[in-house]
Amino acid sequence: MTNQWLKINSKRNLPIGVFDSGLGGLTVVKQLIRQLPREQIIYFGDTARVPYGNKSAETVQKFSLQIANFLAARGVKMIVVACNTASSFALEMLQTRFDLPVIGVIEPGVRSALVASPGKKIGVIGTTGTINSGKYIHLLLAADSSAEVFTQACPLFVPLVEEGWEASPITEMVAREYLQKLSPQIDTLILGCTHYPIIKNVIQKVVDGNIRIIDTAVETANQVRQILTQYALLSDLQKPPKHQYYVSDLPQKFEEIAERFLGEPIVNVERVHSEDLF
Ligand code: DGL
Repeated sequence: MTNQWLKINSKRNLPIGVFDSGLGGLTVVKQLIRQLPREQIIYFGDTARVPYGNKSAETVQKFSLQIANFLAARGVKMIVVACNTASSFALEMLQTRFDLPVIGVIEPGVRSALVASPGKKIGVIGTTGTINSGKYIHLLLAADSSAEVFTQACPLFVPLVEEGWEASPITEMVAREYLQKLSPQIDTLILGCTHYPIIKNVIQKVVDGNIRIIDTAVETANQVRQILTQYALLSDLQKPPKHQYYVSDLPQKFEEIAERFLGEPIVNVERVHSEDLF
């Protein structure tokens, strides 16, 4: 047993840090709680500065570094960038800055899509930032150069979800508009935005019924479990963990909507002013 192993293993009961531009990352938290019920989670939602999806790479990198510093200062054992836009623009930078595992939501979705897709005709939907970054195309083609990749930015989905309009006919209409050209070209569709699993049923309804839908939240939780196992970092806490949530704007709206994302009421929401992040 090496000292290095002991050093890593002694961290196993520390929390996992998870962040997003706002609420969307809770879809990842939901899957983490489902797959890893013993893990304590510290979540940061940058609700004062959401959305990231229409901001520049430099701004998203700056915000992401501030939040990762905040989580690292709270002694997390791992950081999950539970935002596709932040994963597109800031993941590599964060991986070089921190001496702990940092993973994003893009790579797990890419791997899973390539396994699921029979004809390697893969569609990706996401925010304008994620789609314009070209990150999904780059990673899909790097893993399989024979793949054909079709992308579509769907900027109206995030506000529709934030408004709680997932069951509204307006959301279905918008989804048809965005997806009607994409649907006949693909056999697999990656939901490349953490908000989209909330409207997965609407998306499934408007695209061809045979299209496989890849929910990156599920795949990301799978990858977290693999990494914790690999580094002997799985928690062995016996008591149910008490999760902690931080937001950069008023907690009230977050608490209300968070319940829809998580499927359970949330407590322990604290406000941190973004001006105090560095
Ligand atoms: N969480 C963001 C993402 O997954 C969507 C919301 C935003 O634009 O900030 O890309």
